[in-house]
Amino acid sequence: MLVQLDPVSPEPLYRQLRKAITEAIESGQFAAGQLLPSSRALAADLDLSRNTVNMAYQELMAEGFLESIPRVGYAVNSDLRRYLAKPSLTKAPPGIDWEDRMGELTDDLPHLVRPPERHGEPYAFVVGEPDVSLFPTRAWMRATRTAMSDQHIASSLGDRFDTDDPVLVEMLRRHVLPSRGINVPADEILITMGSQNGLYLVSRALLDTKKRVAVEEPGYPDARHIFRRHGARLVPIPIDDQGMTVPLNLKPIDMVSVTPSHQYPTNVTLSVGRRQQLLAQADSQDFLIIEDDYDSEFRYHGRPTPSLKALDETGRVVYLGSFSKFLAPGLRLGYVVADAPLIARLRDLRRYMLRHPPGLLQRTMGLMIEAGDYVRSVRRSRHALKDKWERCVEAVDRHIPWHVSMPTGGLSLWLSGPDGFDGVAAARDALTEGVVVEAGNVCYLHDPAPRNAIRLGFAGTRAEAIEPGIAALGGVLRRHL
Ligand SMILES: Cc1ncc(COP(=O)(O)O)c(C=O)c1O
Repeated sequence: MLVQLDPVSPEPLYRQLRKAITEAIESGQFAAGQLLPSSRALAADLDLSRNTVNMAYQELMAEGFLESIPRVGYAVNSDLRRYLAKPSLTKAPPGIDWEDRMGELTDDLPHLVRPPERHGEPYAFVVGEPDVSLFPTRAWMRATRTAMSDQHIASSLGDRFDTDDPVLVEMLRRHVLPSRGINVPADEILITMGSQNGLYLVSRALLDTKKRVAVEEPGYPDARHIFRRHGARLVPIPIDDQGMTVPLNLKPIDMVSVTPSHQYPTNVTLSVGRRQQLLAQADSQDFLIIEDDYDSEFRYHGRPTPSLKALDETGRVVYLGSFSKFLAPGLRLGYVVADAPLIARLRDLRRYMLRHPPGLLQRTMGLMIEAGDYVRSVRRSRHALKDKWERCVEAVDRHIPWHVSMPTGGLSLWLSGPDGFDGVAAARDALTEGVVVEAGNVCYLHDPAPRNAIRLGFAGTRAEAIEPGIAALGGVLRRHL
C-alpha cells in the first residue's frame, strides 16, 4: 500500500490516512472485501502510532467504507465496493431525452452567464463582488455561538415549516425597516433567501403569460429574466438623470419594477416627484410596484431617500430587501414586505419550495441586529465604500475620456460612452491590461442592445487599485474612441 503522509501538514495524520484509503477504494486499488493490514502492521509500516491508524479505521467504518470482521480485522465493505463499481448509476442511461422532458428549459429564453471569476487580475472591478474584509466576522461568530446556546438552539435548529424566526422578524420591524420609513406588522414580512428569491416568489404568485411588467431600461437583468420565466411580457421604460421616466399612461400594465434608491445599473436616485407620480398612477391605473431596495444604505452624501413603500398608502408596493449588499451575498438572506394576503401566498409557495430559510442563519442575523452589531457594520461598510467611491470619482474625472455624471451612491459605476463607442470590445481589451470590467449591454432589453456602456464594481476592489486601475482603463477607452 502506497501512502504518502505529510507530517508537517496542518491536516491531522489520521485524516490524511483516511483520505488515502478512501482514494484507494474509489480507484479500485483495494478490491471489495479485501482485508486491510492490521492497525499494528500499518502503524509500524508508516511510522505512526496505532492510535492514529485506529482512528482512521474507525471513521472509515462509521462512513461505511470498511467493515469489521470479528477476530480477523478490517476489510473493504463489499456492498460499498459494488456501488462504487457502477459509475453508470450517476450518469443518465442513454435514451432519455432530457431536453424534451424539461419543457421549460427548452423554451427560447435567454440565459445570463456569469463572467468567469477574475479575482487574480490586478484591477478587478467585478460588479456585485463584496469586500469580504468588511464582514463583521467576530460579531457574526458571537451571534452564531449565542444562536447555538441552550436558550436559542431549539429555534435555530428546529423545523419551522412555513414560519419565520420571530426574533429576526421583530428586529427587522424595530431596527431595520424604520430606517427606510417602513412600519408594518409581522404578518406583512416574509424572510427570503436573498431578494432574488423574493422576486421569484412574487413573480410566481402574480405573473403569467397575460401579464405585462414595466422594467427599467437599462435595468437589472436578473429581474427581467425572472419575469420572462413566468411568461410576462416586458415593457422597457427609459431612464434619465431622475431615474425611471414615468409615462403619463402606463396602461395596460400589471406591475412596474423599480430600483429607486440607486437605479440598477446607472445609480441615479428616483426623484421625489417621480415617486409620487408613480404611486398616484399605480392607484389610478391599478398596477403594483415592485421596489427593489437592494443597496439603499450606500449613499455617500446626505441621507438615504425614503422608500416608495414608506409613501405607499394603498398597499400597492411590494418591497424587496436584502442583506447581500450590507453584509454578504453568500448569506442568501433577504425579505419581502407587502400586504398580508400576498405575504400569505408567498409563504405558501415558499413552504413547498424550501420550507424556510435556514433557522440558524435567521436567528444569528436577528441576534446581530439586536446586539447593535448590524448597524455598526453597515456604518463601517458605508464609510469604507465612501472612501472607495471618492477615489473612483477622482480617478474617473482624471482618466476617463468623456464626461461621466456620478450619482452619489451605489457600489458600481456606469460609464456611458459616446455613440459608436463599443463597450463590449473595450471590456475585452481591458482584460489584456489586467482590468476586469463588464460591458453594459446585458442590462438592456432592447435587441440589439446599445453597446456604449461599461460597468465597474468597486465594492470588492482594493482601495489602492482603484486609481491605477481606472487609469489603465482610461488608456484602453481612449484607444476605442
Ligand atoms: C438590483 C439588485 N437587486 C437585488 C440584488 C441582491 O440580490 P440577492 O439579495 O438575491 O443577493 C442585487 C444584487 O446583485 C441587485 O443588483
